[in-house]
Amino acid sequence: MKRKTKLIHGGISEDPATGAVSFPIYQVSTYKQEGVGGHKGFEYSRTGNPTRNALEELIKDLEGGTAGFAFGSGMAAMTAVMLLFNSGDHVILTDDVYGGSYRVMTKVLNRLGIDSTFVDTTNLENIKSEIRPNTKAIHLETPTNPLLKITDIEAVGKLAKEHNLLTIVDNTFSTPYWQNPIELGADIVLHSATKYLGGHSDVVAGLAVVNSERLAEELHFIQNSTGGILGPQDSWLLIRGMRTLGIRLEEMENNTAAIVGFLQGHSSIKKVFYPGLETHPNHELAKRQARGFGGMVSFDVGSAENADKLLSKVKYFTLAESLGAVESLISVPARMTHASIPAERRAELGITDGLVRISVGLEDVEDLIEDLTQALE
Ligand SMILES: Cc1ncc(COP(=O)(O)O)c(C=O)c1O
Repeated sequence: MKRKTKLIHGGISEDPATGAVSFPIYQVSTYKQEGVGGHKGFEYSRTGNPTRNALEELIKDLEGGTAGFAFGSGMAAMTAVMLLFNSGDHVILTDDVYGGSYRVMTKVLNRLGIDSTFVDTTNLENIKSEIRPNTKAIHLETPTNPLLKITDIEAVGKLAKEHNLLTIVDNTFSTPYWQNPIELGADIVLHSATKYLGGHSDVVAGLAVVNSERLAEELHFIQNSTGGILGPQDSWLLIRGMRTLGIRLEEMENNTAAIVGFLQGHSSIKKVFYPGLETHPNHELAKRQARGFGGMVSFDVGSAENADKLLSKVKYFTLAESLGAVESLISVPARMTHASIPAERRAELGITDGLVRISVGLEDVEDLIEDLTQALE
């Protein structure tokens, strides 16, 4: 099955009970048992719900894993995955991860004794030098947010296997339509499904896919024990969004290429960050590892004042957190998505006050370029 077909016919695409081609919303908490334990596969909706199950089967198929899990947000999915580890364990993560991922590791999970180190994972040597006897996993975000750095998933996966570590990949920016981390050797894939998978800025959700029965059993135990599940309405909304993922991403890729070309030729822009640029340090790897470069672009306008001027003038780029939806969004990571990262650390990473991030949507690209032209004047 090709990728666009799998988005529509993968998982459980119709209701076996009625033939409904849109999988129904099973708005239910519990299920009748004929005798104790005599149920039809569902007993209580925290443990399993048919609509959530349809979504979990779909993301499992798309990522090519053993089992999928749906959570109330991307952060709930990441936290559940980190609860696979114990007090005293250590995880190595990409240094410019999403601010919330940094925060949960350094302000919440550290209190449970799960230790973390952040390194530039684009260089394998940085990872090697941080592997300790208690290291249990390497968590990658690639492309990263907001600097769009690319890590070699296959190389990290091999290194991780040599040291008996799990490889976890946050695939939010690429989605399974462009990139399949499990095929490249990852053990667990994470998504903020709030972004491209949902695609319409109308649902907050997280997904995880694992590549073994053992991990499936362990993560289901954690999902059921801690309870951060996605409800049936939001599961349905996500399935509906995911059906058009392919066509949305193809069009966004075209729009993004045109906008990157425009930004590169603009005299007020100091630097453009986009893996599709031949000048991007990881361009060849990006081409090898993924089928598309994505719809996220960052660029430096030199100062917070310049960024504010741009933000106040744009008409079609909505100033908002989040990304990956039909409408184009604009943000300043230093003061928004990455504000939870301390200022010194942001400076080290290169997340400057003049860095602007855009998520290219599905508007007519001529309107988007015209909008940026007038706003940058
Ligand atoms: C790469 C990445 N991972 C995880 C998250 C967290 O997801 P959520 O906001 O759905 O909790 C985000 C949110 O912006 C993100 O960009």
